[in-house]
Amino acid sequence: MTSPWTRDSWRARPALQMPSYPDAAALSAVEAKLAKYPPLVFAGEVRALRARLAEVAKGDAFLLQGGDCAESFAEFTADNIRDTFRVLLQMAVVLTFAAKRPVVKVGRMAGQFAKPRSADTETVDGVELPSYRGDIINGFDFTPEARIPAPERMLEAYLQSAASLNLLRAYAQGGFASLQRVAMWNLGFAKGSPQADRYMRLAEQISASLDFAQACGINATNSNQMKGVDFYTSHEALLLQYEEALTRADLATGDVIAGSGHMIWIGDRTRQPEGAHVEYCRGVANPIGLKCGPSISETDLLKLIDILNPKNQPGRLTLIARFGAGKVEQHLPRLIKAVEREGRSVVWSCDPMHGNTIKAESGYKTRPFDKVLQEVREFFDIHEAMGTYGGGVHFEMTGQDVTECLGGMHRLQSADLSDRYHTACDPRLNASQALELAFLLAEELEKAAPASRAEAV
Ligand code: PEP
Ligand code: CO
Repeated sequence: MTSPWTRDSWRARPALQMPSYPDAAALSAVEAKLAKYPPLVFAGEVRALRARLAEVAKGDAFLLQGGDCAESFAEFTADNIRDTFRVLLQMAVVLTFAAKRPVVKVGRMAGQFAKPRSADTETVDGVELPSYRGDIINGFDFTPEARIPAPERMLEAYLQSAASLNLLRAYAQGGFASLQRVAMWNLGFAKGSPQADRYMRLAEQISASLDFAQACGINATNSNQMKGVDFYTSHEALLLQYEEALTRADLATGDVIAGSGHMIWIGDRTRQPEGAHVEYCRGVANPIGLKCGPSISETDLLKLIDILNPKNQPGRLTLIARFGAGKVEQHLPRLIKAVEREGRSVVWSCDPMHGNTIKAESGYKTRPFDKVLQEVREFFDIHEAMGTYGGGVHFEMTGQDVTECLGGMHRLQSADLSDRYHTACDPRLNASQALELAFLLAEELEKAAPASRAEAV
């Protein structure tokens, strides 16, 4: 018998990776304030995303989930939001057109502020301080004051998430993301590169198809699919006081939802079946992601599936595999077999980032782009060989021209990393690397493309 779920039942469970706030009264005041604020998302949207993900689970659509490792208060600008959104849509264009599948677009945006860390403290030049845990918890500056967890930061994170989401909704439906425009966006960051030429050729083909559609009477005025896109938000549900305070019941259906974003996921470090994060997530109706690293056993995975998706609802649960290039063969088949044997409906997605982080000679935390691509290939090849569907990718990227991951078409070397290394946490793909990834994915998906199914981005 499982005990009844309430929005705060997680509090009775062991909670890893959570800050301990020194000022309990200040924490309660912030929680009380947030509990009165409007939710950021609406239950109908959460159900719509679950329905889209159910299509992915069936093999009829593809999930594209990406954005910052950690959003930061300092990098909160309209340009940054627009540029990340733009690259995600360009990737979606490539996938939709080349792989002939509808693409479900989910940003790691508008709420991705809390970070699990591998160590509780960080030492620089002999000075040891608590680790940075994301802007919603403490500050990035390496000073004792900045590193104290401050609950007021939750209010700033809420505000920034609300403003980001507002802009994303405007972009998605206000004309900025019309198919004609997306296809023709130029690739300033990648001019003259093979990716840019390839993209522009694709854009011309799309344009010709749109002219044809227009001649048939389908255009942005009479077709919603031509006019805009559905875009969803997601983040790791790590800071449970924040999640609890934004939990809302939908009066129409009785569904309880996490009001902080459309989709939430459980990190690889906080997925203990008896732990607080799993307990919180099991009770909300949002689509849930579960990171699966090399240490997950088949028994634990099945236990987690039972807890998180007891009704075996398609679209409810996305398993996000993140093993590292060269390790996929060792882990993915055993998990796929267990899931198939038990007849569980899941979306299989590939995070080719978190198992491929290394320290470069220059001291920067980085990821070799060829390892990222290798893990993607391994993931899709294994699904193809086992007759299952690799339905999505989950990755860290930015629309900015940063130098954080090695390789890619500009052949970034270890010594180049310092040029534009801006991430507050993990190294992200830059715009051209993200597009290169999209072309590779398109090739992988084309192999298993359904006969003729193209939908507007
Ligand atoms: C992340 O997605 O930023 C992350 C920390 O991933 P994981 O839990 O898979 O390590
Ligand atoms: Co990360």
